[in-house]
Amino acid sequence: MMAGSQVKIRSLETGDIPRVVEIFCVQFANLSWTRLGKNFIRKFIRWHFNFHPELALVAESDNQVIGFIVGATGGHREYYRQVLGYAFPEFLAGTLRRPWLLLKPYFLALWVDLFKGVRSGGKNQRDPAVSKTGEKKAIISFVAVTAAAQKTGIGTNLKQAFEQAAFQAGIQVLSAYTEINNYAARRLNEKRGWQLVREEPRRKMVYYSKRLDKHS
Ligand SMILES: CC(C)(COP(=O)(O)OP(=O)(O)OC[C@H]1O[C@@H](n2cnc3c(N)ncnc32)[C@H](O)[C@@H]1OP(=O)(O)O)[C@@H](O)C(=O)NCCC(=O)NCCS
Repeated sequence: MMAGSQVKIRSLETGDIPRVVEIFCVQFANLSWTRLGKNFIRKFIRWHFNFHPELALVAESDNQVIGFIVGATGGHREYYRQVLGYAFPEFLAGTLRRPWLLLKPYFLALWVDLFKGVRSGGKNQRDPAVSKTGEKKAIISFVAVTAAAQKTGIGTNLKQAFEQAAFQAGIQVLSAYTEINNYAARRLNEKRGWQLVREEPRRKMVYYSKRLDKHS
């Protein structure tokens, strides 16, 4: 990013997808999802674009996308089922190419959960976009900024814009999680007033939530 460049936050457009995939694969290089391959990540970003366009934003500077944030209504479990169901051919192809990923408990759990969802056929389930207390909820699934543009406030701007977009879409509660040692993501959450709701040292994850109001 050039010094003094204006950064604009706007909706994700279909032409941005290749660039967002590129940023995703660099910034989440160690994630099992990324190891499934670019085809999977492309389909996964497309799912957000198709089904939750109101919760898919990018940061742009000098006509180049330098960051993105994507989310979905409902909770994490339902999100994984839907997105993996949509990108199932790519998810399966990626797993066949790298079967050792199944040794990772987190990754195996995705497969088990996907099958449970298929077997139940979605029957007897609460509306996944509504919490037990009747509130409309959504998650932030991923936020990332290119290395060159980090620590200049873009992550904060993306998150703030996402919270506003979610509020306008009628969402009352947001949730997100990150690795316990992801200090940038944790600081970003704290700065935006998110509450730490749970720590899972065994899985090395921390969970946050935020109740939205018009001042978010
Ligand atoms: C998390 C991420 C999106 C933050 O984006 P960013 O544009 O650098 O964020 P900001 O510049 O708005 O900084 C937000 C706060 O985090 C702090 N911060 C940023 N990077 C940091 C780091 N590596 N270590 C500690 N704090 C950090 C900033 O100083 C700022 O706090 P401050 O205002 O009190 O100084 C970015 O680091 C990133 O893309 N990481 C890789 C992908 C990722 O892990 N995403 C989160 C999980 S989905």
